Amino acid sequence: MKKIASSEITPESVYRSRRRFLRSGLTFLGAAALAACAPGGVDESPKSPDLRSDKVDEFGDPATSFADITGFNNFYEFTTDKERVARLSQNFITSPWQVQVGGLVNQPGLWDLDALRRQFDQEERIYRLRCVEGWSMVIPWDGFPLRKLLDRVEPRSDAKYVRFETLYDPQQMPGQRDSYFSWPYVEGLRLDEAYHDLTILATGVYGQPLLPQNGAPVRLVVPWKYGFKSIKSIVKIELVAEMPTSLWMKAAPNEYGFYANVNPEVNHPRWSQATERRIGTSGRRATLMFNGYDRQVSPLYAGMDLRENY
Ligand code: MTE
Repeated sequence: MKKIASSEITPESVYRSRRRFLRSGLTFLGAAALAACAPGGVDESPKSPDLRSDKVDEFGDPATSFADITGFNNFYEFTTDKERVARLSQNFITSPWQVQVGGLVNQPGLWDLDALRRQFDQEERIYRLRCVEGWSMVIPWDGFPLRKLLDRVEPRSDAKYVRFETLYDPQQMPGQRDSYFSWPYVEGLRLDEAYHDLTILATGVYGQPLLPQNGAPVRLVVPWKYGFKSIKSIVKIELVAEMPTSLWMKAAPNEYGFYANVNPEVNHPRWSQATERRIGTSGRRATLMFNGYDRQVSPLYAGMDLRENY
């Protein structure tokens, strides 16, 4: 997304062969675990729900494997190398964790993560995630609608947008020592987008608490927008009157706008957005308007020029 030298980008063929290698390793591990279950053996089968799943999205597309969801990530606070995020973030401290919710609200508060989990029933949402870079996944998130938290803090009538902030801690997050970006990572939504039922705060994947690489312990998920809107490891949620400026808007305003709705008809200045590569499958598929959630969300943008408001 930033101006990355082409040498930094893993060529697809290399990525694929690495994954094939990983998969064959997993198959081997799976066989070893099965052998351990044989009579008299100790059950040491992996407890992760990895490997295979029968979860599908509403189009019948199978969920991406746990290994890919947790092994191929964008989290620039750690590194721009998608396959190293998991390792570099493995010691990230996510407990205790508090989220400050305030700004133009009647009931500001500091929410402990456990309280968030306890007070809002967790539900599974199987969503497509389309990265602005042209790849996608199907992810079974566990979380709750952001609207429920917003209702608790009672937004005032002058609140028009919601601003989100990721933890700032360069000690733990080496990428934040790079001054190319203005840290912390910031994102924003219009209030009606934040209130939309599809918009969730996620705390888990595949029924397990989020791992650091996926934005533990709590991250936003807005499935009809490019993945960069789905900000990770949130510490602050603020109701504001003015449109927030996101980290990406600051870094490259002609490339990343505030709305960032998935739109196959509006290309990125440096590449087409017409198709995408679904991680774990071969070939490319057509990218859908609003990532396939057009029926649910197009009324939010009635009368708006989506080229102008990219
Ligand atoms: N949030 C923070 N704080 N930092 C990031 O670098 N990357 C974004 C988004 N949220 C990012 C972030 C991008 S570009 C994408 S595509 C998604 O996270 C990737 O989420 P995933 O790694 O869980 O698939």
